[in-house]
Amino acid sequence: MFNEILNTLYTIDHFPTCPALKNIILDTAGSADCKDKKSLAGLAHHISFDPSMFIEFLKIANADSFGYRKKISSVNNALLILDDELINLIISQHPLMPEIPSYQALFRDYMLIIKHTIEVRIILQNLLDGVLINATADENERDELIAASVIHDIGLLFLLLYFPNEYRKSVSHNEFNPAGNAAVPDHAFIGSILCEYWHLPYSIRVSAAFHHYPWLADEKIRKGAEMLYIADSLSSTFYDIFYGESDVYSFEEHIVMKKQLLDITEKYGIEMTDIALIREESLLHTEKIMDDIGFSSPAA
Ligand SMILES: [Fe+2]
Ligand SMILES: [Fe+2]
Repeated sequence: MFNEILNTLYTIDHFPTCPALKNIILDTAGSADCKDKKSLAGLAHHISFDPSMFIEFLKIANADSFGYRKKISSVNNALLILDDELINLIISQHPLMPEIPSYQALFRDYMLIIKHTIEVRIILQNLLDGVLINATADENERDELIAASVIHDIGLLFLLLYFPNEYRKSVSHNEFNPAGNAAVPDHAFIGSILCEYWHLPYSIRVSAAFHHYPWLADEKIRKGAEMLYIADSLSSTFYDIFYGESDVYSFEEHIVMKKQLLDITEKYGIEMTDIALIREESLLHTEKIMDDIGFSSPAA
């Protein structure tokens, strides 16, 4: 199974999206003025709700055929170099998940991963705008981190869509069930292979690869992975995905027990009170976005 999963990775050129996400992006693109930076920023904002569409834009902007030497790390910058006809074509041609019963059964998990991704991006943005403001002054570095937050669990989406049985085993592998399943590659590893295959910038790939174990990353690239790890750990939907059916610990107990998380937050001077405020604000913001795009909160 391990090899079958790895071999399938190299056949994936486009990740399907769901109609609700595609429709909101199509609507925004339809009313966007491609000569107006503010209008493009609004479109980029909506594209960032959808990891599969987000990747499509980064992939195309970073393709060798475009000949740009500098890697493109944000969808905003990708939109600035693509003409409006191509932008509309990319969005309208993007494949949808087939409407077949087996996919419908996965929809709740799909929604949870999308919600988690949105939440992690918002938490990271809030951290960067607040308590981590001095840690990443460089705009390109911030773009790369935000991109990494959107795509960091693409490996989970891959397992869900292409190997649903292995996805189930993978998410049931947590600290309450350490036996797990060694036959399934780690989703962060899968995500990093996909990012490499799609020529995404190195730092995005590496931050995604180590988002659960930043202490294993080389010191030169550890900072991005650590910041992503903080945002990922603070996401309530992370807890729902991995521990939703467990009543062993509450989310708060789970946070307090994560020694590595507390070590890293201490290193960046992040207090528990900051964590609580950022979590609360980010969760409200995420719920609002989910409502706006027509997703009701999945039942736990
Ligand atoms: Fe993850
Ligand atoms: Fe995650």
